[in-house]
Amino acid sequence: MTSQPWWRRGVVYQVYPRSFADGDGDGVGDLRGLRDRLEHLVWLGVDAVWLSPIYPSPMVDFGYDITDHTAVDPLFGTLADFDALVAEAHRLGVRVLLDLIPNHTSSRHPWFVEARASRASGKRDWYLWRDPALDGGPPNNWRSVFGGPAWTLDEPTGQFYYHAYLPEQPDLNWREPRVREAMLDVLRFWLDRGVDGFRVDALRHLLKDPEWRDNPPNPAFRPGMPPYDALLPVRSADGEDVLEPIAAIRRVLLEHGDPVEERPLIGELYVPIERLVRYYGRDGRGVQLPSNMHLIATPWESEAIAALVERYEAALPAHGWPNWVLGNHDRSRIASRVGPAQARVAAMLLLTLRGTPTLYYGDELGMRDVPIPAEHVQDPYERNLPGIGVGRDPERTPMPWDAAPNAGFCPPGACPWLPIGEDNAQRDVAAQRRDPRSMLALHRRLLAMRRRSEALAGGGYRTVAAGAGVLVYLREGPGEQVLVALNLTSAPGTARLSGRVRLSTRLDREGERVVGELRLRADEGVVLEAGAAR
Ligand code: GLC
Repeated sequence: MTSQPWWRRGVVYQVYPRSFADGDGDGVGDLRGLRDRLEHLVWLGVDAVWLSPIYPSPMVDFGYDITDHTAVDPLFGTLADFDALVAEAHRLGVRVLLDLIPNHTSSRHPWFVEARASRASGKRDWYLWRDPALDGGPPNNWRSVFGGPAWTLDEPTGQFYYHAYLPEQPDLNWREPRVREAMLDVLRFWLDRGVDGFRVDALRHLLKDPEWRDNPPNPAFRPGMPPYDALLPVRSADGEDVLEPIAAIRRVLLEHGDPVEERPLIGELYVPIERLVRYYGRDGRGVQLPSNMHLIATPWESEAIAALVERYEAALPAHGWPNWVLGNHDRSRIASRVGPAQARVAAMLLLTLRGTPTLYYGDELGMRDVPIPAEHVQDPYERNLPGIGVGRDPERTPMPWDAAPNAGFCPPGACPWLPIGEDNAQRDVAAQRRDPRSMLALHRRLLAMRRRSEALAGGGYRTVAAGAGVLVYLREGPGEQVLVALNLTSAPGTARLSGRVRLSTRLDREGERVVGELRLRADEGVVLEAGAAR
């Protein structure tokens, strides 16, 4: 067990740096603020922190549009602040993962500025340029994820460039060896600074169809869905050859003295399960953790969740280690999706399934989406497509730390970049630390339980029952059997099982013996030691 890499047993915590803690009083979170709050992560009991982008950026897509991959944006601090953060995190036993954005840069990146200058530019091929179609329009029908065509005409040079996201985020050409080398150097730079792994952004977009064929229409498209969904992006994304550049990235990690794979790659992947598992690669040369986002979209019902887990477990290759995600900076928060009572059940699910969980900052407090008035919307996705509910500001609001003004996120005189929200301000860390039955307390207990349990951290999974709103599964490790029973409804439920209660989502029935039938209260989840009813 101990020879396994940390990320198999560990738990990853995602921080959106703008919103975690403001150390310099400008209303935007930063590296110093985060360093001062590392104690929270240690107290909570997570193993690693993944930082959304901290690099220099015009911030059109809040840091996912980069002008320099090997520096820190002054908004977040300096490289020295970053080094200090890594040193302090390591001292405290917390690993630091960075967001790597290999697919695109900012349109203001010096590479793109040079590429755009003329057709003869030495860097022209670093990006994806095509001549207009015969009618003068875009070269094919590909759409931008954020709405509109994925091609923008560069009038002075008369060609279109491709961007999977905003026109301010031109896609790099990963078939150009110099691009690949430059990006691998970015990895080397951060590995040399002690970074413990990467979350790889937009991985499915890395390589496009070399023949630039049109995407077919999506038969499941309905009005009201984001316009991107009108086509199936089978030519523009998730191509068969994407594993080859991934293997190149893996080789850099190996060369950097990581034969035991202590530095994982987490791939951001919104693809069906059957496609997702492909990213483990043949013989495990893909990414170690292809993000499994399927809990985010699956109906919150016992049968649906059981079916998802089974399908995923069955699809995993022999060498593939599972992982689970409940939320991130691009999706509505779990407590808003399922309600505050079920959010406790969701936490138990996330932290007792087989595989590495990723926790999104603030979900341990039960933070909810904060409605953002139209005139204050920051997210370019929402600005492009107002009114259809794609905005991501609501799940990116500041972390509430205590009862001070601005919930302790930033000093009293500062104005937080997004509103804190009255509801979230009531859920601050300090208050929840004082309350032994809070959502935060539940997370800490679940994490501690998981850490101590071979069955939960590394054992097998088997569905026991999934009817009548209650999901029951067994986690089994050497000499240990753990049953998890989750009531996914707001009516009381029962499960036929015996054992001793280790933890209830209400934190009030540990040690209780159950013989034959477990009664679950509304919205209650229970972890039991199986066969320990005597
Ligand atoms: C990923 C990020 C998202 C960003 C996009 C473009 O999906 O998670 O926040 O907007 O990539 O980089």
